[in-house]
Amino acid sequence: MPKTINVLFLAAEADPFIKVGGLGDVAGSLPRALRALSNDDINLDVRLVLPYHPAVKADNVRPLGMFSIPRGESDVQVEAFETSHNGMPVYFIGGDPIRANGSVYSLDSKLDAEKYSFFSLAALELPRHINWLPDIIHGNDWHTALSLYGSLTKRWEDGARQAASVITLHNLPFMGPNVSTILESYDVKLAQTDLPDWARVMPLPLGLWASDAIVAVSPTYGKEILTPQYGCGLDDFLQIRRETVHGIINGLDTDSFNPADDSALGVNFDIESLEKRDANKALLQERLGLAREPKTPLLAMVSRMDVQKGVDLVFAALKNMKRSNWQAVILGTGDPKLEAAAKKLQTLFPERVKVETRYDAGLARQIYAGSDMLLMPSRYEPCGLSQMIAMRYGCVPVVRAAGGLNDTVRQGITGFVFEKIHHMSLVAAINSAMKIYADRDKWQSIQRAGMAQDFSWENSAKQYLELYQSIIKT
Ligand code: GLC
Repeated sequence: MPKTINVLFLAAEADPFIKVGGLGDVAGSLPRALRALSNDDINLDVRLVLPYHPAVKADNVRPLGMFSIPRGESDVQVEAFETSHNGMPVYFIGGDPIRANGSVYSLDSKLDAEKYSFFSLAALELPRHINWLPDIIHGNDWHTALSLYGSLTKRWEDGARQAASVITLHNLPFMGPNVSTILESYDVKLAQTDLPDWARVMPLPLGLWASDAIVAVSPTYGKEILTPQYGCGLDDFLQIRRETVHGIINGLDTDSFNPADDSALGVNFDIESLEKRDANKALLQERLGLAREPKTPLLAMVSRMDVQKGVDLVFAALKNMKRSNWQAVILGTGDPKLEAAAKKLQTLFPERVKVETRYDAGLARQIYAGSDMLLMPSRYEPCGLSQMIAMRYGCVPVVRAAGGLNDTVRQGITGFVFEKIHHMSLVAAINSAMKIYADRDKWQSIQRAGMAQDFSWENSAKQYLELYQSIIKT
């Protein structure tokens, strides 16, 4: 009989049910990758729990029934649903606080506070109703952090079976709103913690405090968060816990992101047929309305429009590079100010800059397949996905040495890496890339080195499994 490890995996979003950003990619892939590690000795029964956001798309959803969780004088109704995805049970938690908030993340932090507090606490009750007890509760980011805190505080109350807890950190600065009155209303006590005062009322810090293991989504980010520059005021607290802080790099869905059979591409190619990228470049230039110049370096940015991503540095760098020969495509949505700045850049360089401020997965894939360099000068980057997709598609990343970028891109071998958060450092990195670009053989060896990397989820899942095994309570 294989030994079974039950894992309750909680997230605010997961592909293919609902996806806003990188968290959705991870929560869509990691649970499945973990289940796939099951063998004769071990059975990893990972089950995914998501809020039943109104925008969730799922087939064959069946109601599991209702239960309630106590809140003040009354109870709050929880509606539980179940479906399965490639053999994995997936649960959706519904209820008024989730319906009240139409989007996955609201601009109204009160709505989010209510929604995710409810979700995190209700999800903890689910195992009882499905007769399946988790050995591990695995939360992600602030939205589900209170489940770890709730699990710990409940443990104190009833001494029930103890699940070990893990939290994966995808973005430390987002700690969630003050939830002290909400917690009080659910009768969850605020514990004495060694957190700074301002942090002990926020979901993420409480979840970090309660977890047996903290996982940053790359080894470098795992170290960075222990420093004042990246620690967001929690660095002292995390320093004390550093034995429990780990860094595990995210994988990439290498089936979905495969230039050899990506249906979004005009021409498919692989490491042996790199020359077919040329056709993708021509198609991309044509689609964007750029001149069809095979030898002009085509620079790309595929990114949320956010200061985190350093998009402003890209704008400043391109302005500075007026005199050299290049074309650029910028795809992404987000901060209206940055979107406007991108459009302004296009007005400044109408012949060479094309900006698309929308979400377009197909165009993104064509950009990875047809452009020459991906610019990603992030101020911080817990892991980052675009640079991995880019390398898989033979597009060479130019990145800042932060977090996962530092762990996935090797200077001069698979891409170009710079240190300083300054547009002139980006300019210098682009210039050294352009020098190599002029020598097609040298450039191709960088492209091939990137394409040969193994970014699949299996390695990362194995590290999570080891971690589970090290913290499981017997
Ligand atoms: C967040 C981070 C990004 C990471 C993703 C998935 O979006 O900003 O770096 O890749 O989460 O972990």
